[in-house]
Order: sequence, then structure tokens, then C-alpha cells
Amino acid sequence: MKGAKLVQLAVAAGLTSLTFSATAADSVKVGFMLPYSGTYAALATAIENGFKQYVEEQGGKLGGLNVEYARVDDESAPAKATDNINKLINRDKVDVVIGTVHSGVAMAMAKVAKDTNTLMIDPNAGADAVTGPMCAPNIFRSSFSNWQPAYGMGVVAAEKGYKTAVTITWDYAAGKESVNGFKEAFTKAGGKIEKDLTLPFPRVEFQALLTEIASIKPDIVYTFFAGGGAVKFVKDYAAAGLKESIPLVGAGFLTDGTLQAQGESAQGLLTTLHYADGLNTARDNAFRLGYAKAYKMQPDVYAVQGYDAAQMLAIGLAASKGEKSRQDELIAAIEKATIDSPRGAFTLSKSHNPVQDIYLRQVQGESNTVQSVAVKALADPGRGCRM
Ligand code: BEZ
Repeated sequence: MKGAKLVQLAVAAGLTSLTFSATAADSVKVGFMLPYSGTYAALATAIENGFKQYVEEQGGKLGGLNVEYARVDDESAPAKATDNINKLINRDKVDVVIGTVHSGVAMAMAKVAKDTNTLMIDPNAGADAVTGPMCAPNIFRSSFSNWQPAYGMGVVAAEKGYKTAVTITWDYAAGKESVNGFKEAFTKAGGKIEKDLTLPFPRVEFQALLTEIASIKPDIVYTFFAGGGAVKFVKDYAAAGLKESIPLVGAGFLTDGTLQAQGESAQGLLTTLHYADGLNTARDNAFRLGYAKAYKMQPDVYAVQGYDAAQMLAIGLAASKGEKSRQDELIAAIEKATIDSPRGAFTLSKSHNPVQDIYLRQVQGESNTVQSVAVKALADPGRGCRM
């Protein structure tokens, strides 16, 4: 926000009466902190695309302000996260950080954002803690908590009459929390978890674990994988001959943005997520058309989350006029907004996480086709958040 810079320029130019307010802003600087390399690279691109699509739809502005960008590749590396977000804040002097994808990185970012009172909108990472114990007035999420889609699948699996499950995921916050969300709903309804299998992020040597699943023979397998890892897991699961005998279910990241690469191996898979193909609402159809025209490909859940992060920021900036001193108005405006999302309108919980429908989807061709609403207006419990 450039009020201060304009004042300096005006003073340097010897202007005695300013034609603008000393606190007025004419632009907002947005810092993307996303994994532009590695297994989640495609997710980063979709988020940035979605964000910029919304900005373009507003004539290149957000809340009436021009938009400038800075970006950092966070490499999905938690150990580098503090340095990376500090680069955006201190070197690039961004007004808001949009990030990130990986839950471990997001938790490190949230700590810095909270300590420095930097506005942060999380456009993907589901770390429960970000809108749980780490919640803060200046931290918002446009995506989901890891608990949400997973809980939805636990409900669906129990309703379908499955009694036993094995879980398999990467051994980091997103995987563990996703498995916990599934377990919570599944075991509450009488289901039993036979075994939790994990491997380190972002490894993809699944063979020994698939052999173990075959020997346990559960009713279903629940999984959290995303990006490049999800492509490999779904292909390996089918190649191991398990797809027909033990249904594979998961949080929808398993098949979102991945179907072209997964091909036949993904056909028929059931997943739960806060977005689906075939919603066929005027809002979603317009969004999809705009995205396809701009980027020559179909949008996915990550694009929607980026788009909605821009919408949330626009609402806040319109209320605060981009003035840092009016941050309370920015926060209040986002808190009370209904976001007109392509996924369906949503509001934010007290801890700043979307309260949203969780869809049951089935893979048909290259589409995660909506089957039903698995859980209506699901709010993350926000455990540990005190605001
Ligand atoms: C996460 O780390 O929170 C995450 C990564 C990819 C997809 C969904 C969640």
C-alpha cells in the first residue's frame, strides 16, 4: 500500500499541499508463497491462476486498488518456511501473503504472520492448527481444514455399510489430520480401523505397503495423497490388482487436477471434497468458462481456492480502502462476508475457516462428477482456537 511512498515522493518534490491523503493507498502488493517446484507444483500454478483470474475480472484491481505481485517458491519445505515468508515481508514489503499448499509450511508461516501482524490468506494448506490453536485475527483460509473432507468420507463410508478400513498417507500434518478426520466419523458410526500405514513426504515407493493392504483385506482403504504423489498412488493401487477387490476412497485431492495422468486407474473412484465437477450452477459455469479461456485448461479445486482468496481480499480492501490503520475494518468485513464461490456460497467460522458443503464425487472420464452433498455446511470444530 503506497500512501507512505507517495508522501515521501511528494515531500521530495517540494509539494506543500498534497492532493491525496497521507494514508490513502493506490495499490496492494500481494506475495505468493507457493510450491512452484516439486510434487505440489501444479497446485501452486492453479492457485495463482485462480487468484489472477478474479483480479482480471475486476479490471486488474482488488477492492479498487491496483495489484502488484511478488512470489517465492517454498518448495514444500517446512525448514525454509520462516526465511521464505520473511523475504516476502521484509525484502518485498508485501501487504498480504497468499500461501501455501503444504500444511507443515503453512504452520511456520502462520507463526510469522501472527508475530508480525501480516495479513495471511491460506489458499490450500489444511493444517487444522492454522484455524485451531494458531488462529489469529489476521489469518484467514479460503480452502478447507484437513478434518473437513476426511470427516465427510468417514460419514459416507459408514453409510455405505463398510465396517473395516486401512488408512495410508504421507507422514506429515495433512496426512495425519486427514486420517484422523476420517476415523472420527467412521469409528463413531461403528467402523474399525485395522491399520494406519504411512511413508515420509513426498516419497512414492508404495509397493511394500500395498502388499500389506492385500494381506489385511479390509473392506476399504482410505487415503490422503495429492499432486504428483496422488497420480503415482492411484496408478500403483490399480496395477497391484487391488482396485477391484478393495475399494479405494479418499479426500478428493486424490483425483483433483490429476485425472489426465491417472487415466483408467482412477475410473469409478469415490472421494469427498468441497468442490466437484458438474455442479452446473450459473456461478460455477461462468468461473469455469473464464478459467478455460484464460488458461486453456479446466479448473480444479486449487484454482477455486485461489480465486476465492482474491475475492476475500477484495472484500477486505474495499472496506479498509487499503489503509493499514483500518485493518480492523478489513478483518470485520471478511468475517461477516458471504463468499460467492464457484463451489457454492460460504461463510467463515469464528476461527476463519470456510463453513461449506462437502460433496461426494465419482471419477467419470476426466471429471470428478458430483453425486450428492455428503455433509451440508460442515464447520471445522476449530479446536483450540481462542479469538
Ligand atoms: C496440505 O499439506 O495441507 C495439503 C497439500 C495438498 C493438498 C491438500 C492439502
